[in-house]
Amino acid sequence: MSKLSHKQLIDKLVKENYVLTDFTLTNIGTYTKEDSDWNYKDVPHLNIIHKNVSCFQAIIGDDFVGSINFLKLPFVNITLPLIFVNYEYKPMSQIYISSFGPLIIIVETSSKTDSGRTTVNTNFSILSRKLFKFLHFFVKKMIIKNNEVLMSEDIPMRDRRAELRTANHDFYNPANTYSFKFTEEIYRANLFIKNKKPYIDIPLKEIQECKDGDKIGDDEGIFSFFVTEKNGLKMLWPTTCPHEGAKMDKNCISNKRLLCPWHHRRIDRVLEYGPNGIKYIPSIDFCCIDNVSNIRIYYRNNPEYYDTRPYEIFKKNI
Ligand code: FES
Ligand SMILES: [Fe+2]
Repeated sequence: MSKLSHKQLIDKLVKENYVLTDFTLTNIGTYTKEDSDWNYKDVPHLNIIHKNVSCFQAIIGDDFVGSINFLKLPFVNITLPLIFVNYEYKPMSQIYISSFGPLIIIVETSSKTDSGRTTVNTNFSILSRKLFKFLHFFVKKMIIKNNEVLMSEDIPMRDRRAELRTANHDFYNPANTYSFKFTEEIYRANLFIKNKKPYIDIPLKEIQECKDGDKIGDDEGIFSFFVTEKNGLKMLWPTTCPHEGAKMDKNCISNKRLLCPWHHRRIDRVLEYGPNGIKYIPSIDFCCIDNVSNIRIYYRNNPEYYDTRPYEIFKKNI
């Protein structure tokens, strides 16, 4: 597949007598460049996390996506349809192309990590014939405002991943850079723990004595659980989504299951304890066994296991 760079695209348009307004916005964070790469390619979060965008994809490949986006414009209460073509030009660099009336918008994002900090530069290019140059000023203002809103929704996702990395977790990706298509498989468990046994022992007594709102297990990560209690029935729920690490709490419970806030994966409680004793809830990611006076909770911790899509058979029950 041949791909034009940001500069090649601009050069072609300038040759066609298009005039250019160019500017760059920068974000710096403690997340990795892989986290921003993932965030830009993550298809399913778009309709869930971003309040001013809704979209659907006409085509999705590993390194490109073509979509119809409905974008609520800042400052005016108007939603416009925009056709987007988005491709990975080279690792950690993506290009977006769209048009808006007489204007063409070309955006390039590039991420690099240095000394534990990642810098993401987003270069925006607005092009049109000279006659419409006066519109560039207004469109630039809208882009800056829109980007501010998008980033206020995206950066917490990247920061959450940085938090989990600090707590000895990592994220599986089968290729050098993320694939758009891969991000659609929300029933995978791409989160894994490093340098630690894939289980935690929780004293039975702790489960018997816990109360609604308590946290049990590790402070952070896949072995951190929260408790709900209703009519004498206690339930233990994961605080961390196995898919890509979203943080969850009791506000995520809907229809007796967790609804992950990032991609809407359904996640069950791990166990419950009530007048009839303890009941383990089997799932594709977690498994509980009795271990003397403890409950041992295993996490599968094997992202490659999901390559053959074993979750398909569970989906109808999820
Ligand atoms: S992080 Fe993707 S569904 Fe939870
Ligand atoms: Fe986003």
